[in-house]
Amino acid sequence: MSVVLEMKNVETYYGKIQAVKDVNISVKQGEILALLGANGAGKSTILKTISGLVRPAQGTIHFMGEDITKKEPHSIVEMGLIHVPEGRRIFGALTVTENLELGGFTKKSDKSKTHKNIKKVFDMFPRLAERHKQLAGTLSGGEQQMLAIGRALMSEPKLLMLDEPSMGLAPIIVLEIMKIIKRINTENNTTILLVEQNAKAALKLAHRGYVLETGNITLEDSADSLRKNDSIIKAYLGAH
Ligand SMILES: Nc1ncnc2c1ncn2[C@@H]1O[C@H](COP(=O)(O)OP(=O)(O)OP(=O)(O)O)[C@@H](O)[C@H]1O
Ligand SMILES: [Mg+2]
Repeated sequence: MSVVLEMKNVETYYGKIQAVKDVNISVKQGEILALLGANGAGKSTILKTISGLVRPAQGTIHFMGEDITKKEPHSIVEMGLIHVPEGRRIFGALTVTENLELGGFTKKSDKSKTHKNIKKVFDMFPRLAERHKQLAGTLSGGEQQMLAIGRALMSEPKLLMLDEPSMGLAPIIVLEIMKIIKRINTENNTTILLVEQNAKAALKLAHRGYVLETGNITLEDSADSLRKNDSIIKAYLGAH
């Protein structure tokens, strides 16, 4: 299996505070990779470092074989690496359709392609189709998360990074979102890096997982093995 993303010895600081310590992560073509860890472990910082929003002090990041360590965020997006940040930053004063159109603009595409991709997103998220004219700010939390993912799909990502898509959502909506993530992976063959605190939900659909503790990767294994790992059960699965 070819490697889509490779982080080597990455260290990221905020001022003097080190948030990411000598992290090595590789994401393989076609897989769902789960990055698990408690609050403050450094999960979001890893995604921000990959997408160029924060700069690593050390280490290298390669995407599709190209060194992106020093690239600007917009160039990284144009290469097909799309980051859906924590907290769903959709445009509340725009409609569902307008939000999706904006997602399509990251790729220099024509109108017919945008139209085709909106159709695909609506097919995947019927709830969004029903609400296409609704202002995004009035959508429920789960629908806003769907819109954030849908908008990311508009630019046909090669690697989709999702930062805690289940955050703050009711269990039934979490299930719905997780099913859609699986569909994106199987139907579009999109490689996915999934950051989650909800280890149970994430390990159900992931192929492999990494566990992050205070900036360090402490475990790497198949999702099946992680689900059966006693320390994981104790730390992340017991309470669910
Ligand atoms: N902009 C910032 N300035 C200073 N410190 C920061 C900044 N962003 C994050 N940190 C610190 O870096 C560490 C890692 O934070 P990060 O947001 O990556 O964790 P996380 O694993 O995503 O946590 P959560 O599950 O709560 O989202 C934390 O100690 C946090 O306080
Ligand atoms: Mg986070």
